[in-house]
Amino acid sequence: MVDFGTILIMVEIFLVFCVQMFTASHLKEVDKETHPGYFHWRTDAVVSNFLMCPDACAHTITFRRSFAGNNVVTCCVANAQPFWIISKSKNLLGVLHLKTAGKYGFVMEATGADVMSYYKIDFKQENLKEIPDILCKNKKIVEIDFSENQIENIANIECLHILDTLNLSFNRISKLKNTTFRVLKYLRLLDLSYNKIQFIEPNTFSYRPGSLM
Ligand SMILES: *[C@@H]1O[C@H](CO)[C@@H](O)[C@H](O)[C@H]1NC(C)=O
Ligand SMILES: *[C@@H]1O[C@H](CO)[C@@H](O)[C@H](O)[C@H]1NC(C)=O
Repeated sequence: MVDFGTILIMVEIFLVFCVQMFTASHLKEVDKETHPGYFHWRTDAVVSNFLMCPDACAHTITFRRSFAGNNVVTCCVANAQPFWIISKSKNLLGVLHLKTAGKYGFVMEATGADVMSYYKIDFKQENLKEIPDILCKNKKIVEIDFSENQIENIANIECLHILDTLNLSFNRISKLKNTTFRVLKYLRLLDLSYNKIQFIEPNTFSYRPGSLM
C-alpha cells in the first residue's frame, strides 16, 4: 500500500519538475531572442540559471579553471549577466512599486508583470529607515535599488532567494552580519558603497556552494 507520505513526496517531486520545466522552456524562449553575442550559461557549480555569458568567454576555453571544485569557464563567473539585462526583448522584469500604507507600513503594487513575473523594486532617494518585511511576500524579486535612503540594518532580505542585484549604497549601514548573505546564492551584484561600515562579522562573504560570490 502506498502511504500518504509517499504520495505527498511524489506530488512534491512532480511540482518541482513542473517548475523546472517551466523555467527551462521559458529560458529557451529567451535564448532565441537574446543578443547573438551571448550563450545561456549553465554549470553545476552555480545555482543561478538566469545567466548569459559573452561568447568571447567560450573561446577562452584554454583558460578554464576550477571554481568551487568544478571545471567552469571562470570568464563567465566575472562577466555573465542575467537574461533580462542581455535580452533584446523588452519588459522582462515587472516593477513593484512600494507605497506607504496598510498594516505592514507598505504595500506593493505590481506593474508590467507577465507570466514570467520576475520583479525589480526601485525605491531610491526616499526616507526608508529599514527594509520593509513586506518584500518577503514576493519571492520573485531579483533586483532591489534602495540606494540613498536611511537604512541602518540589512534585514528582511534572507527570504529573497533569487535576488541578483542589491543596491544599498548611500545608506547608514554600520554592521554586516554573517547570516545576511548566506542564503542569497543568486546574488551577483552588491553595492554597499557610501555607508558607515565599521564591523564585518567573520565569514560574511565566505563562499556558499552554488553562489557566485
Ligand atoms: C547604486 O546606486 C548608486 C546611487 O543611486 C549608483 O550611483 C550606483 O551606480 C548604483 N550601483 C550599481 C552597481 O549599479
Ligand atoms: C559569525 O560571527 C560571529 C561573531 O559575531 C561568530 O561568533 C560566528 O562564528 C560567525 N559565524 C561563522 C559561520 O563564521
